This record gives sequence, structure tokens and C-alpha cells, in this order.
Amino acid sequence: MKLKSLFFALSLGSFACALAQPSAQSSLDGYWEYRVPNGGVTFFSLKQTGETLTAIEDDHRTSFTGTIQSDKLRLAITVQSANGTFEIVYDGVRESADKFQMSRRAPGVRPGEVFETKGVFKRVDRDAVYPARLPLPPLEDQPDNGLVRTPPMGWNSWNHYHDQFDDATVRGMADAMVSSGMAAAGYKYIIVDEGWSSSRDANGNIVGNARFPDMKALADYVHSKGLKIGIYSSPGPQVCGGYQGSYGHEEQDAGTFAAWGYDYLKYDWCGARRVYQRTPADLEGAYQKMSEALAKSGRPIVYSLCEYGWGDVWKWGAKAGGNLWRTTGDISDHWESMDRIGFAQLDIQQYSSAGHWNDPDMLEVGNGGMTADEYRTHMSLWALLRAPLIAGNDLRTMTEETKSILMNAEVIAIDQDPEALPAVRTPPQDTSEVLIRQLANEAVAVGLFNRGAAPAQISFRWDSLHLNANLGGKSLEARDLWKHEAVPVTGDSYTALVPPHGVVLVRVAVKQLGTF
Ligand code: GLA
Repeated sequence: MKLKSLFFALSLGSFACALAQPSAQSSLDGYWEYRVPNGGVTFFSLKQTGETLTAIEDDHRTSFTGTIQSDKLRLAITVQSANGTFEIVYDGVRESADKFQMSRRAPGVRPGEVFETKGVFKRVDRDAVYPARLPLPPLEDQPDNGLVRTPPMGWNSWNHYHDQFDDATVRGMADAMVSSGMAAAGYKYIIVDEGWSSSRDANGNIVGNARFPDMKALADYVHSKGLKIGIYSSPGPQVCGGYQGSYGHEEQDAGTFAAWGYDYLKYDWCGARRVYQRTPADLEGAYQKMSEALAKSGRPIVYSLCEYGWGDVWKWGAKAGGNLWRTTGDISDHWESMDRIGFAQLDIQQYSSAGHWNDPDMLEVGNGGMTADEYRTHMSLWALLRAPLIAGNDLRTMTEETKSILMNAEVIAIDQDPEALPAVRTPPQDTSEVLIRQLANEAVAVGLFNRGAAPAQISFRWDSLHLNANLGGKSLEARDLWKHEAVPVTGDSYTALVPPHGVVLVRVAVKQLGTF
């Protein structure tokens, strides 16, 4: 029998078998995908024992438990998170031996919201989950693309929306970026994170999903506002939540992003772990592969590496062509997360330089999970760290307080200071931290941080700033950048009462006496 007809006979056989057997009795053991039309795909490895199921969701390695009774399948998991306990539930009705019509219910991003999708749950081969590995390029230093000489500033959809947003949301954010004054304050990149992609067309070109029907038109719109636009993909076949990634299509996708007019790519590892190992060679090789593809596209595209700091990315991110690289896992809108991530950056500051920035993740300012004092700490710390300032809140509904934090021009100026020197940490005292950073033009920024839960007196000595004010004709002037008022330069030191989880941020400069 010819191979082709053998396949035909076999598949006919299994079809007949599926029809003949009572469906509830055929074992569900094996690999399955849940695919949302025009959306993402999630893979499961299923094990059936009688009517009981366990299902490992591949991407997040979470284990669902469930049941198969008659033609009804149910998978559920209870998740404990910083936002409380919640359930994710899949409910399916059998259509054939290897296929169910399915719905998935999970909490939305905001408290009380529910996010429901409908899709098809069907059996797949192992190869669909773990595609064959393609070769990576030999490691080679990539040329500097000359972009983002100061840390990039912008807005990204993820912190506020996760994947639950659309083209209109992004356009609205571009409008608000301009009308709120954020653009004038320096915020420039509107970055579309996970949730825009769907699949590939007949020519293998990546396409947007139903919520993003025309990615080029979206880019044109954002450009028409005088802004730049960013997009999101992965070295893996899918991104974290199962939307299409760039695996095996790196050059083609870079060409598409360039042709659509995108100016920034956030490239997130997640789904790549189904193809590559978490070794330095694989991490660096996969990121270099896309860097080469972006260079070939001919368009200047800021390249943002997102692999959560694995393999000490700060040591090789620039060589792989990165303009910025995430140094940590995801931030969340809580004090503990922001405080832990922010202060951990102080040990790796020497790896940031013009065009190549450590990225401690995006801002949560304005999302509601922290107090105004905590958000001022967030903004001050990120500015002292020379971190990218990527807002993650709804720019259309900002309170005056949120605006005053995100658009504090004097704090932004510290972040964007052209000298880009690292901050110096003085030995912490209990929960008090003093960070000192040399700025251009004989100036210094001093952050007095209270990481404790009670108010604290925090001091610094004027002479610890090493400003040459003792020389003739000069003196020091100081300014509180949150109160927007002068600080008297008297005595040997300055002491401030800093609120719990709060900051006092002072800029001290040398002034020529008699010049004003
Ligand atoms: C990862 C990244 C986040 C965001 C999500 C999207 O967790 O670290 O910043 O892009 O993926 O799924």
C-alpha cells in the first residue's frame, strides 16, 4: 500500500473507531489545545483516570483538575495571587472524539470583572506544542542602533489592561498622551503589549486579531499624533498568553513590523521555553536572531528584551543588540513588589548606559494599588535608577495627583540626565535609604527613602555630595522636587521627616554667587 493511502486508511479507521465508540469512554490522555478564533492558543497535557482529569497548562505549568462526564468536560484551578483567590474554569461540550466546543471564564483585570472566551478544545500532536528546534546564529556582537540615548519614555497596555484591550483603547491612549501633557513631558512611545496578534495568513505573514484589524492604520494614527508606536512578540511560537509569536518567522515579522511603521519591539521570552533551553547560548542566540532581523528591516526599531533578567541579561543585552532589558520578573501594583524590585536594581546599575538600559519593569503609578507617597517613591526611584519610564495606567482618566507624579518635569529630568551616571547608595540605616546621584552641570540628586511603615527622620551631609561650593564665588542651592520649593542650605546637614513608604527628593546645585 502506498504511504498516502495507508495514512488515508488509518485516519478513516480512527474516524470509524471514534464513531463506533461511546465518546465518554475514549481516553483523553495526550496533548490538547484550546484555540480562540482570532485569538490565542493554550496547550494542555491531559491525563484521565475514570471520570477524573488532570491537565497541565503548558505555558504556566499550572495543574488544573477536572471531570469528564457524559459529553461534558470541565477543568478548573484555584489561584492565589496578590489580588486574592480566584478561579479559572473551562467548560466544554463534546463535538467528536477529539474535539470539544469550550468556554473559559477567568477574572478580568479589574476587581469584579469576568473575562470570558469561547473556543475549540482539540487533540493535537506533541509537535504542535513543542515544535522542532531551528538553528540559532553564532553569537556575535551586534552594532549599536544609535537609539534611545536617554531612557525611553512612553505608555504600555499591559499593567492596566493585560490582553483585554483593542485598537480603540490604544488610539484613545495616544489622544490622551497628547491632551494630558504627557507627550510634552517627554512620553513618546505607545506600546501595544500582548493581545494584538492572531495567527498567520497563507503567506506566513503575522496578522492582527479581531480587536486589532489593521495594525498599520493604528501605527499611522499614533504617528499622526506626533508619537511613536511599539509592538510585542516572542522568540517562541506563542507569546505568554498564547497569541502568535515570531518563532521561525523572525525576519518576516521584523519586515512586517517595519512595513507597518512600528518603532519599538518588546520581545518576550515566555513561549520560547517550548523550543529553547534557558542557557546563556539559547537566550542570547534567540535575542540576537531578532536583533539581526530588525537591523535587516532597515527601520530604526528600539529593541526591548523581556526575559525577566535570566542569565544576567544586563551583561550581554547590549551585545545581543538590546536597547533595554528587563532585569526582573513582573512588577505588580503593590508596595512590596515595587520596593523589592526597585532597590534590588542598585547592585547592577553599572550595566546601564546611553542606548542600553536596565529595565526594572513598567510604572504602576495611577493604577490604584499604592498610596500617593508610594507612587512618588516609585517615580523617584525609577528616575534615580535611569529606568525607562513607561506608564501603565489609563491616561484618559488620570487624577490631578497622578498627573503631578508622572509629569513632574524636575523628576523626569533626573531620569533623562545626559550624564546618565549611577546612583550611589549610602549604607542603609534601619529602613532608611539615601541615594545620591551626580547630574550634569554641577548638580546632584539626593533621594531620602523611608521603606518603613512609620515616619522617619532622614539626613544627609552637604559635604557628602562632593560639590565644589567651597571654592570662591560659589554656594549651594537646593530644591525639594516634590514640594516644588527651595530647601535652605544651612548647617552641616539636611534632615527631612519622610512619611511611611515615602520619599523626599532634593536637587542640589552649585550656583555662582552674584549671577542672580
Ligand atoms: C510577561 C511580561 C509582561 C507582559 C506579559 C504579557 O509576563 O513580563 O511585561 O508583557 O508577559 O503576557
